[in-house]
Amino acid sequence: MVKPIYFTNKIKNFDKKIFVNGDKSLSIRWALMASLALGKSRAHNLLMSEDVLSTIKILKKLGIKVESNKKYYEITGNGLNSYLYKKNLTINAGNSGTLGRLILALLICSPKKIKLIGDKSLSKRDFSRIIHPLKEFGVNFYPKNRTTLPISIKGTNLIRPIKYFENKGSAQCKSSVMLAALNAPGKTFIKAKKSRDHTEILFKNLKIPIKIKKTKNYDYIEIEGKKNFKSFNYNIPGDISSSAFFIVLTLLSQNSKLIIKNVNINASRTGIILILNRMGAKIIFKNKKIYKGEQIADIYVKSIKLLKAINCPTKLNTRAIDEFLIIFLVAAKAKGVSYFKNLEELNHKESKRLNWGSKILNMIGIKTKLTNHSIKIYGNPNLDLYKNYEIKNYLKDHRIMAMTTVAALTLGGKWKIHDPDSINTSFPSFLKIIKSLGGKIN
Ligand code: S3P
Repeated sequence: MVKPIYFTNKIKNFDKKIFVNGDKSLSIRWALMASLALGKSRAHNLLMSEDVLSTIKILKKLGIKVESNKKYYEITGNGLNSYLYKKNLTINAGNSGTLGRLILALLICSPKKIKLIGDKSLSKRDFSRIIHPLKEFGVNFYPKNRTTLPISIKGTNLIRPIKYFENKGSAQCKSSVMLAALNAPGKTFIKAKKSRDHTEILFKNLKIPIKIKKTKNYDYIEIEGKKNFKSFNYNIPGDISSSAFFIVLTLLSQNSKLIIKNVNINASRTGIILILNRMGAKIIFKNKKIYKGEQIADIYVKSIKLLKAINCPTKLNTRAIDEFLIIFLVAAKAKGVSYFKNLEELNHKESKRLNWGSKILNMIGIKTKLTNHSIKIYGNPNLDLYKNYEIKNYLKDHRIMAMTTVAALTLGGKWKIHDPDSINTSFPSFLKIIKSLGGKIN
């Protein structure tokens, strides 16, 4: 058991430049794609968080050679459908929904049964959303009709391509079907509600036959399977979802400035910036460049005295899906009533984040109106805390840990946060950066 951490002081003003850890979505995708490529692929600045370490562990169990030194990770792939492993294998996706949902797609041709397990949080999450389309490809899952982990997959050589409609705006579901399509002879067609598009960008870069037609609300994707691709190197940029906590820490602190260097600002991930700027922030991107189809930039942010409420346009939901907890905290300090709707997906994350967001705001004296898909937040610009607050039993959701740390350092009060190691899922250097900005952790 890791000891709780305590915060008893607000953070003092700071003016600093930081780097956050590598992008989680890209790190997991690099490792999975490298394991299918022909030859040795290298990644620099790979995120060394538990989700990515679970990915590496699974690949090793599937017979993939993974080597590392201080500078880079190297994965040797042997092409599509070339995993080699023992009978009765069990693989563990830990806390990672992305890994759990994507790895099953890579096993659709494996004739030996493989069991997928996960931690307490992942075992509560819905897997029917990818079991259905993967079954269409010809795969079997056991026990039949189970929708949560643990679950076993038995692949087949008789894979057929599918037509799939993704209507949740889930990049995990879309990417799972895209990865499965790699092993299907012929063309797989996907109509997908907009969501992060790192997998599409990677496929294009690797010259995998993919066609994409974009319309206002949906993307139409066509993938031709059974085409091997070459190994590739990747320099992973910083994660905007990790940056989000430091953006808000700066916004809600006094007289502070921060530059976050080299962050992936892919347009499908920048909802938080648009939302916060609408609330009165002045966050800007500088030194923009394109790297392998992804947009990279430095993020400049400074403290703002008065933020205003937002009626959040639902079209920004998928572009900010991992950032709502920290956005709710900004709404708590903003002038007016903020409204966020069509967010039922938030209760399908590492914890029930819509409910938790509301619960934490209520705990600090902010009124909310919650339904199963929306929240109204009655902001208080004069919010200043002085009581004791304790955060526990939150299914070790890394983003709850980070959000409450930012609350403690900007709003005051005495905080006790249990399971601080939960942050290692996505952002192992989080507390180190907090300290480097002057945050006092007891
Ligand atoms: C992710 C997609 C999102 C996000 C998750 C990472 C990805 O999940 O919440 O943290 O890397 O594809 P959904 O696609 O299920 O919304």
